[in-house]
Amino acid sequence: MSATNRATMLEKLADLDAQHAVAVAGGGEKYVARHKDRGKLTARERIELLVDEGSAFLELMPLAGWGSDFTVGASMVTGIGVVEGVECMIVANDPTVKGGALNPWSLKKSFRAGEIAEQNNLPTINLTESGGADLPTQKDIFIPGGRGFRNLTRASARKQPSISVVFGNSTAGGAYVPGMSDYVIMVKEQAKVFLAGPPLVKMATGEETDDESLGGAEMHSRTSGSSDFLALDEHDALRLARRVVARLNWRKRGAAPQAPYAEPDLDPEDLLDLIPTDLKEPFDPRDAILRIVDGVSTGSTAGPGNEVAFDEFKPLYGSALCVGWARLHGHEIGILANARGVLMSQEAQKAAQFIQLANQKDTPLLFLHNTTGYMVGAEYEQGGIIKHGAQMINAVSNSTVPHLTVIMGASYGAGNYGMNGRAYDPRFLFTWPSAKSAVMGPAQLAGVMEIVARESAEKKGQVFDAEGFQGIKDMVEGMVEEQSMPYFLSGMVYDDGVIDPRDTRTVLGICLSVIDNQPIEGAMNFGVFRL
Ligand code: COA
Repeated sequence: MSATNRATMLEKLADLDAQHAVAVAGGGEKYVARHKDRGKLTARERIELLVDEGSAFLELMPLAGWGSDFTVGASMVTGIGVVEGVECMIVANDPTVKGGALNPWSLKKSFRAGEIAEQNNLPTINLTESGGADLPTQKDIFIPGGRGFRNLTRASARKQPSISVVFGNSTAGGAYVPGMSDYVIMVKEQAKVFLAGPPLVKMATGEETDDESLGGAEMHSRTSGSSDFLALDEHDALRLARRVVARLNWRKRGAAPQAPYAEPDLDPEDLLDLIPTDLKEPFDPRDAILRIVDGVSTGSTAGPGNEVAFDEFKPLYGSALCVGWARLHGHEIGILANARGVLMSQEAQKAAQFIQLANQKDTPLLFLHNTTGYMVGAEYEQGGIIKHGAQMINAVSNSTVPHLTVIMGASYGAGNYGMNGRAYDPRFLFTWPSAKSAVMGPAQLAGVMEIVARESAEKKGQVFDAEGFQGIKDMVEGMVEEQSMPYFLSGMVYDDGVIDPRDTRTVLGICLSVIDNQPIEGAMNFGVFRL
């Protein structure tokens, strides 16, 4: 905890604000002004009018596409919003970015949104206005993109309804977004939903026709039946979407949280002081936990109080990993947090046991990362670090309670896997601006490359040019450093967003509420534990 840490974190947060501002700007001033001059609402305005007044909208993956040739945000705005009291996945095309055309990052983002809706049992609302496939990158999206339409109809079969509100263009493959949705609303004189526009029809069949006869809102609402509601304008369309949700007869199937709950015992503001500027310095995750979880409370008629904010389990064993039970916004959770960077055999076994306990009592798990990976060296190999790490990875992989992951600091090597990194399918994964993630640290990676190159040269009887290799080492180190940073990883859609540490409690609270849309059933069957 120090003022230097705070200064570094504040600098990173100012930068994060700047990156988010780029996403919020969408296609930029010119295209936003043109869109508004046409009397249309922006994607974010549409969402704001759709969700319940005063409710929180948890935007997801706002930095998708960061560092690529595409506009940050990937021409869509996605997140979870509350509509008529129902938590819904909202996916809104941003028509100010390349006409809302979908590029490879938009695809990744929309698939991830679909996965979140599926895993957490949420209805989906598509706010549609898109030029379809981004034509220059069609090879990357045409074939895999078909899955989006399949997913919509499979969600319907799982009783996860979809609503499509069409504000503008939705042609060719895009026509199957409303086509496969359970409820469709089209805006009069704006929606255009057809398999082929007038020029293509003329070329294909010679027929002379116009937009309205081919795919206008009136035609689809009165003649084809592809639209269920004709909205007079955009506001009316959003009102109708809210009415549809109000009539979904939606009930959360999970357990309700304990209420009331107390705010954390320690001030979340101090989280800014916590992360050392140099991640090699350790920090105590209990200082984070007590600023994120519910504080001590006396309880009420609705349920028992919270006598201790964090009940640590096995505190004397495997102390580089801190695990224990707490509540967050009244939801019981188990927490696994790295207390020192490295994971050894005791820590791995403690984690495997703790994850099984959480499954036995159907309790979600929160993983807080600050790890440099599993311990290496002859002593540890002989002590069975591989099989103990494997026990932890087995437990994480076969656990069926919902997992939440927050990468606070380092997340390197197989530590990223054992602590439930992206490849292990946590329900939600967020990073702090202080996070760094890669196969290993940049300096270590460049050093390993040098050793390998030196040995290879020696085997061939050549003289190793250490001076000449320094340039390659510097280049690789710089590249890995850049690729380990949170924006880069967020740009690749390897997380659901980079968040201000002070918002962690609120963000996780929303996620736990979303998770409660279906019951939690912990696993009692794991793979074979190599003992
Ligand atoms: N792929 C790549 N770029 C696209 C695109 C697409 N599918 N659709 C639009 N764009 C680009 C335009 O080239 C233009 O770029 P520029 O401003 O850098 O020149 C920008 O997006 C805005 O397009 P514009 O036509 O000026 O916007 P609009 O709001 O007047 O019209 C559309 C939007 C979507 C109706 C119109 O662009 C269109 O019909 N696009 C093609 C739709 C299509 O047939 N898609 C194939 C479906 S699989």
